[in-house]
Amino acid sequence: MDAMSVAPDLVPDARPFLKWAGGKSRLIPRYAPFLPPRETIHRYIEPFIGSAALFFHLQPPRARLSDCNHTLIEVYEVVRDDVEGLIAALRPHKNDRDYYYHVRAQDPRELSKAERAARIIFMNKTCYNGLYRENQMGEFNVPFGRYKRPRICDEQRLRAASRALQGVELRTADFADAVADAGEGDFVYFDPPYVPLNATSSFTSYSRFGFDDFDHRRLADTVFELTTRGCRVMLSNSSAPLVHELYAHNGYAIHPIEARRNINSRADGRGPVTELLILNYDG
Ligand SMILES: C[S@@+](CC[C@H](N)C(=O)[O-])C[C@H]1O[C@@H](n2cnc3c(N)ncnc32)[C@H](O)[C@@H]1O
Repeated sequence: MDAMSVAPDLVPDARPFLKWAGGKSRLIPRYAPFLPPRETIHRYIEPFIGSAALFFHLQPPRARLSDCNHTLIEVYEVVRDDVEGLIAALRPHKNDRDYYYHVRAQDPRELSKAERAARIIFMNKTCYNGLYRENQMGEFNVPFGRYKRPRICDEQRLRAASRALQGVELRTADFADAVADAGEGDFVYFDPPYVPLNATSSFTSYSRFGFDDFDHRRLADTVFELTTRGCRVMLSNSSAPLVHELYAHNGYAIHPIEARRNINSRADGRGPVTELLILNYDG
Protein backbone atom coordinates (compact mmCIF):
# COMPACT_ATOMS: atom_id res chain seq x y z
CA MET A 1 0.00 0.00 0.00
CA ASP A 2 1.62 3.33 -0.96
CA ALA A 3 1.40 6.51 1.08
CA MET A 4 -1.21 8.01 -1.28
CA SER A 5 -3.66 5.17 -0.80
CA VAL A 6 -3.81 5.07 3.00
CA ALA A 7 -7.39 4.30 3.98
CA PRO A 8 -8.94 6.91 6.28
CA ASP A 9 -9.25 4.57 9.28
CA LEU A 10 -5.54 3.66 9.37
CA VAL A 11 -3.38 4.99 12.20
CA PRO A 12 -0.52 6.41 10.09
CA ASP A 13 2.24 6.25 12.73
CA ALA A 14 1.39 2.82 14.22
CA ARG A 15 4.54 0.67 14.18
CA PRO A 16 6.06 -2.14 16.29
CA PHE A 17 6.89 -0.98 19.81
CA LEU A 18 9.09 -4.00 20.67
CA LYS A 19 12.37 -5.20 19.22
CA TRP A 20 11.91 -8.82 18.22
CA ALA A 21 14.20 -11.48 16.77
CA GLY A 22 12.90 -12.11 13.27
CA GLY A 23 10.93 -8.83 13.30
CA LYS A 24 9.69 -8.05 9.81
CA SER A 25 9.69 -4.24 9.72
CA ARG A 26 12.55 -4.02 7.24
CA LEU A 27 11.03 -6.62 4.94
CA ILE A 28 7.64 -4.96 4.58
CA PRO A 29 8.63 -3.18 1.32
CA ARG A 30 9.67 -6.57 -0.12
CA TYR A 31 6.43 -8.19 1.03
CA ALA A 32 4.10 -5.41 -0.06
CA PRO A 33 3.70 -6.55 -3.71
CA PHE A 34 2.51 -9.97 -2.53
CA LEU A 35 -0.10 -8.83 -0.01
CA PRO A 36 -3.79 -9.15 -0.82
CA PRO A 37 -5.58 -5.78 -1.08
CA ARG A 38 -6.69 -4.69 2.40
CA GLU A 39 -10.35 -4.36 1.34
CA THR A 40 -10.46 -8.04 0.28
CA ILE A 41 -9.40 -9.30 3.73
CA HIS A 42 -12.43 -10.40 5.72
CA ARG A 43 -10.26 -11.16 8.74
CA TYR A 44 -6.50 -11.14 9.28
CA ILE A 45 -4.89 -13.81 11.49
CA GLU A 46 -1.25 -13.64 12.59
CA PRO A 47 -0.43 -16.65 14.81
CA PHE A 48 3.27 -15.87 15.46
CA ILE A 49 2.91 -12.25 16.40
CA GLY A 50 6.36 -11.22 17.75
CA SER A 51 6.50 -7.44 17.14
CA ALA A 52 3.51 -7.63 14.76
CA ALA A 53 5.21 -5.66 11.99
CA LEU A 54 2.89 -6.86 9.22
CA PHE A 55 -0.21 -6.24 11.31
CA PHE A 56 0.78 -2.61 11.93
CA HIS A 57 1.49 -2.18 8.23
CA LEU A 58 -1.80 -3.69 7.08
CA GLN A 59 -4.07 -2.57 9.91
CA PRO A 60 -6.87 -4.79 8.69
CA PRO A 61 -10.38 -3.94 9.90
CA ARG A 62 -10.75 -7.30 11.68
CA ALA A 63 -7.81 -9.16 13.17
CA ARG A 64 -6.77 -11.93 15.51
CA LEU A 65 -3.19 -11.82 16.78
CA SER A 66 -1.75 -14.69 18.74
CA ASP A 67 1.46 -16.23 19.99
CA CYS A 68 2.34 -19.08 22.34
CA ASN A 69 4.18 -16.56 24.55
CA HIS A 70 1.62 -15.47 27.13
CA THR A 71 3.88 -12.75 28.53
CA LEU A 72 4.01 -11.17 25.08
CA ILE A 73 0.25 -11.39 24.54
CA GLU A 74 -0.33 -9.75 27.90
CA VAL A 75 1.82 -6.79 26.81
CA TYR A 76 -0.40 -6.34 23.74
CA GLU A 77 -3.52 -6.55 25.91
CA VAL A 78 -2.24 -3.77 28.13
CA VAL A 79 -1.25 -1.60 25.14
CA ARG A 80 -4.74 -2.13 23.72
CA ASP A 81 -6.74 -1.69 26.94
CA ASP A 82 -4.71 0.50 29.32
CA VAL A 83 -2.08 2.44 27.42
CA GLU A 84 -2.11 5.38 29.86
CA GLY A 85 -1.61 3.03 32.85
CA LEU A 86 1.23 1.41 30.94
CA ILE A 87 2.91 4.74 30.17
CA ALA A 88 2.63 5.77 33.82
CA ALA A 89 4.26 2.48 34.88
CA LEU A 90 6.98 2.75 32.22
CA ARG A 91 8.09 6.37 32.86
CA PRO A 92 10.13 5.70 36.05
CA HIS A 93 12.27 2.96 34.42
CA LYS A 94 15.90 3.88 33.68
CA ASN A 95 18.81 2.51 31.67
CA ASP A 96 21.06 1.41 34.51
CA ARG A 97 22.76 -1.96 34.93
CA ASP A 98 22.00 -2.56 38.64
CA TYR A 99 18.48 -1.27 38.22
CA TYR A 100 17.98 -3.61 35.23
CA TYR A 101 18.99 -6.70 37.25
CA HIS A 102 16.78 -5.58 40.12
CA VAL A 103 13.76 -5.35 37.76
CA ARG A 104 14.65 -8.62 36.02
CA ALA A 105 14.65 -10.38 39.42
CA GLN A 106 11.15 -9.16 40.31
CA ASP A 107 8.40 -11.75 40.61
CA PRO A 108 5.92 -10.73 37.88
CA ARG A 109 3.05 -12.22 39.91
CA GLU A 110 3.55 -9.50 42.51
CA LEU A 111 3.07 -6.72 39.93
CA SER A 112 -0.10 -5.29 38.42
CA LYS A 113 -0.85 -6.15 34.79
CA ALA A 114 0.31 -2.67 33.64
CA GLU A 115 3.50 -2.97 35.72
CA ARG A 116 4.22 -6.40 34.24
CA ALA A 117 3.84 -5.06 30.70
CA ALA A 118 6.03 -2.04 31.55
CA ARG A 119 8.69 -4.38 32.95
CA ILE A 120 8.76 -6.40 29.72
CA ILE A 121 8.95 -3.29 27.51
CA PHE A 122 11.68 -1.82 29.74
CA MET A 123 13.77 -5.01 29.55
CA ASN A 124 13.13 -5.27 25.81
CA LYS A 125 14.59 -1.77 25.30
CA THR A 126 17.59 -2.19 27.59
CA CYS A 127 18.55 -5.88 27.42
CA TYR A 128 21.24 -7.40 25.25
CA ASN A 129 20.27 -7.03 21.58
CA GLY A 130 16.57 -6.72 22.43
CA LEU A 131 16.31 -10.50 22.69
CA TYR A 132 13.47 -12.32 24.38
CA ARG A 133 14.65 -15.53 25.98
CA GLU A 134 13.37 -17.56 28.92
CA ASN A 135 14.93 -20.28 31.05
CA GLN A 136 13.24 -23.60 31.77
CA MET A 137 11.27 -21.93 34.56
CA GLY A 138 9.80 -19.41 32.13
CA GLU A 139 11.89 -16.56 33.60
CA PHE A 140 13.34 -13.87 31.37
CA ASN A 141 17.11 -14.40 31.41
CA VAL A 142 18.73 -11.99 28.91
CA PRO A 143 21.65 -9.92 30.30
CA PHE A 144 21.82 -6.11 30.37
CA GLY A 145 22.52 -4.52 26.97
CA ARG A 146 24.87 -1.85 25.73
CA TYR A 147 22.52 0.88 24.59
CA LYS A 148 23.60 4.47 25.34
CA ARG A 149 20.20 6.19 25.25
CA PRO A 150 17.43 3.67 24.59
CA ARG A 151 13.94 5.09 24.10
CA ILE A 152 12.32 3.25 27.00
CA CYS A 153 8.99 5.07 27.05
CA ASP A 154 7.99 6.17 23.56
CA GLU A 155 4.57 7.53 24.46
CA GLN A 156 3.59 8.53 20.95
CA ARG A 157 4.41 5.13 19.54
CA LEU A 158 2.57 3.29 22.31
CA ARG A 159 -0.54 5.44 21.87
CA ALA A 160 -0.51 4.91 18.10
CA ALA A 161 -0.13 1.14 18.58
CA SER A 162 -2.99 1.23 21.08
CA ARG A 163 -5.27 2.93 18.57
CA ALA A 164 -4.37 0.37 15.89
CA LEU A 165 -5.08 -2.48 18.34
CA GLN A 166 -8.61 -1.37 19.25
CA GLY A 167 -11.07 -4.18 18.46
CA VAL A 168 -8.27 -6.69 17.79
CA GLU A 169 -8.67 -10.16 19.25
CA LEU A 170 -5.58 -11.33 21.20
CA ARG A 171 -4.94 -14.93 22.16
CA THR A 172 -2.27 -17.03 23.78
CA ALA A 173 -2.33 -20.09 21.56
CA ASP A 174 -0.41 -22.61 19.57
CA PHE A 175 -0.52 -21.63 15.88
CA ALA A 176 -2.81 -24.54 14.96
CA ASP A 177 -5.44 -23.51 17.51
CA ALA A 178 -5.22 -19.89 16.37
CA VAL A 179 -6.45 -20.83 12.89
CA ALA A 180 -8.81 -23.68 13.80
CA ASP A 181 -11.87 -21.67 12.71
CA ALA A 182 -10.27 -19.84 9.75
CA GLY A 183 -12.05 -20.06 6.42
CA GLU A 184 -12.75 -18.36 3.12
CA GLY A 185 -12.03 -14.63 3.11
CA ASP A 186 -9.50 -14.90 5.93
CA PHE A 187 -5.86 -14.04 5.29
CA VAL A 188 -3.34 -15.81 7.51
CA TYR A 189 0.29 -14.74 7.83
CA PHE A 190 2.62 -17.32 9.41
CA ASP A 191 6.05 -16.16 10.55
CA PRO A 192 7.37 -19.11 12.56
CA PRO A 193 10.83 -19.41 14.08
CA TYR A 194 12.85 -20.27 10.98
CA VAL A 195 14.27 -23.67 10.05
CA PRO A 196 18.00 -23.20 10.82
CA LEU A 197 20.27 -22.99 7.75
CA ASN A 198 22.89 -24.79 9.79
CA ALA A 199 23.16 -25.97 13.37
CA THR A 200 24.38 -22.63 14.77
CA SER A 201 22.95 -20.00 12.42
CA SER A 202 19.57 -19.46 13.89
CA PHE A 203 17.96 -18.07 16.99
CA THR A 204 14.80 -20.05 17.74
CA SER A 205 14.58 -20.19 21.53
CA TYR A 206 12.04 -17.42 22.10
CA SER A 207 10.70 -19.37 25.03
CA ARG A 208 11.13 -22.68 26.75
CA PHE A 209 8.96 -24.16 24.00
CA GLY A 210 11.23 -24.71 21.00
CA PHE A 211 10.14 -25.08 17.38
CA ASP A 212 11.57 -28.16 15.67
CA ASP A 213 11.16 -30.12 12.44
CA PHE A 214 8.05 -31.78 13.80
CA ASP A 215 6.47 -28.34 14.33
CA HIS A 216 7.45 -27.28 10.80
CA ARG A 217 5.74 -30.38 9.40
CA ARG A 218 2.70 -29.65 11.55
CA LEU A 219 2.70 -26.11 10.17
CA ALA A 220 2.88 -27.35 6.57
CA ASP A 221 -0.11 -29.64 7.27
CA THR A 222 -1.98 -26.65 8.70
CA VAL A 223 -1.21 -24.57 5.58
CA PHE A 224 -2.57 -27.39 3.42
CA GLU A 225 -5.72 -27.67 5.53
CA LEU A 226 -6.30 -23.90 5.29
CA THR A 227 -5.78 -24.06 1.53
CA THR A 228 -8.52 -26.67 1.19
CA ARG A 229 -10.79 -24.35 3.20
CA GLY A 230 -10.26 -21.45 0.79
CA CYS A 231 -8.14 -19.36 3.14
CA ARG A 232 -5.33 -17.21 1.72
CA VAL A 233 -2.02 -17.99 3.42
CA MET A 234 1.37 -16.29 3.34
CA LEU A 235 4.35 -17.80 5.15
CA SER A 236 7.92 -16.63 5.77
CA ASN A 237 10.77 -19.04 6.34
CA SER A 238 14.43 -19.62 5.62
CA SER A 239 15.60 -21.23 2.40
CA ALA A 240 16.63 -24.44 4.21
CA PRO A 241 16.07 -27.69 2.26
CA LEU A 242 13.26 -28.75 4.62
CA VAL A 243 11.25 -25.64 3.69
CA HIS A 244 11.58 -26.36 -0.04
CA GLU A 245 10.60 -29.96 0.62
CA LEU A 246 7.52 -29.04 2.65
CA TYR A 247 6.14 -26.43 0.22
CA ALA A 248 7.21 -27.80 -3.18
CA HIS A 249 3.70 -29.20 -3.79
CA ASN A 250 0.05 -28.16 -3.81
CA GLY A 251 0.59 -25.27 -6.22
CA TYR A 252 2.22 -22.94 -3.68
CA ALA A 253 4.26 -20.03 -5.07
CA ILE A 254 7.73 -19.77 -3.52
CA HIS A 255 9.35 -16.33 -3.84
CA PRO A 256 12.98 -15.70 -2.83
CA ILE A 257 13.36 -12.54 -0.74
CA GLU A 258 16.71 -10.93 -0.03
CA ALA A 259 16.94 -10.02 3.65
CA ARG A 260 19.39 -8.97 6.31
CA ARG A 261 19.43 -10.48 9.74
CA ASN A 262 18.52 -7.86 12.28
CA ILE A 263 19.28 -9.50 15.60
CA ASN A 264 22.64 -11.18 15.51
CA SER A 265 25.43 -10.55 17.92
CA ARG A 266 28.08 -11.87 15.55
CA ALA A 267 29.27 -9.27 13.07
CA ASP A 268 30.08 -11.96 10.50
CA GLY A 269 26.45 -13.08 10.45
CA ARG A 270 25.05 -9.78 9.18
CA GLY A 271 25.40 -10.29 5.42
CA PRO A 272 22.43 -10.61 3.04
CA VAL A 273 20.59 -13.88 3.19
CA THR A 274 17.89 -15.28 0.93
CA GLU A 275 14.65 -16.10 2.69
CA LEU A 276 11.44 -17.50 1.26
CA LEU A 277 7.94 -16.10 1.03
CA ILE A 278 5.40 -18.84 0.33
CA LEU A 279 1.89 -18.08 -0.93
CA ASN A 280 -1.10 -20.32 -1.60
CA TYR A 281 -2.69 -17.62 -3.83
CA ASP A 282 -1.59 -15.58 -6.84
CA GLY A 283 0.36 -12.66 -5.38
C1 LIG B 1 9.81 -15.00 13.97
S1 LIG B 1 8.91 -14.57 15.42
C2 LIG B 1 7.65 -13.63 14.70
C3 LIG B 1 8.15 -12.29 14.22
C4 LIG B 1 7.05 -11.31 13.85
N1 LIG B 1 6.42 -11.63 12.60
C5 LIG B 1 7.61 -9.88 13.81
O1 LIG B 1 7.50 -9.17 12.82
O2 LIG B 1 8.22 -9.49 14.82
C6 LIG B 1 8.22 -16.09 15.92
C7 LIG B 1 7.21 -16.08 17.09
O3 LIG B 1 6.65 -17.39 17.18
C8 LIG B 1 6.28 -17.66 18.52
N2 LIG B 1 6.07 -19.13 18.63
C9 LIG B 1 6.99 -20.12 18.74
N3 LIG B 1 6.39 -21.34 18.73
C10 LIG B 1 5.05 -21.12 18.59
C11 LIG B 1 3.89 -21.96 18.48
N4 LIG B 1 4.00 -23.31 18.51
N5 LIG B 1 2.68 -21.38 18.32
C12 LIG B 1 2.55 -20.03 18.31
N6 LIG B 1 3.62 -19.17 18.42
C13 LIG B 1 4.84 -19.71 18.54
C14 LIG B 1 7.43 -17.08 19.32
O4 LIG B 1 7.01 -16.78 20.65
C15 LIG B 1 7.76 -15.79 18.48
O5 LIG B 1 7.10 -14.65 18.99
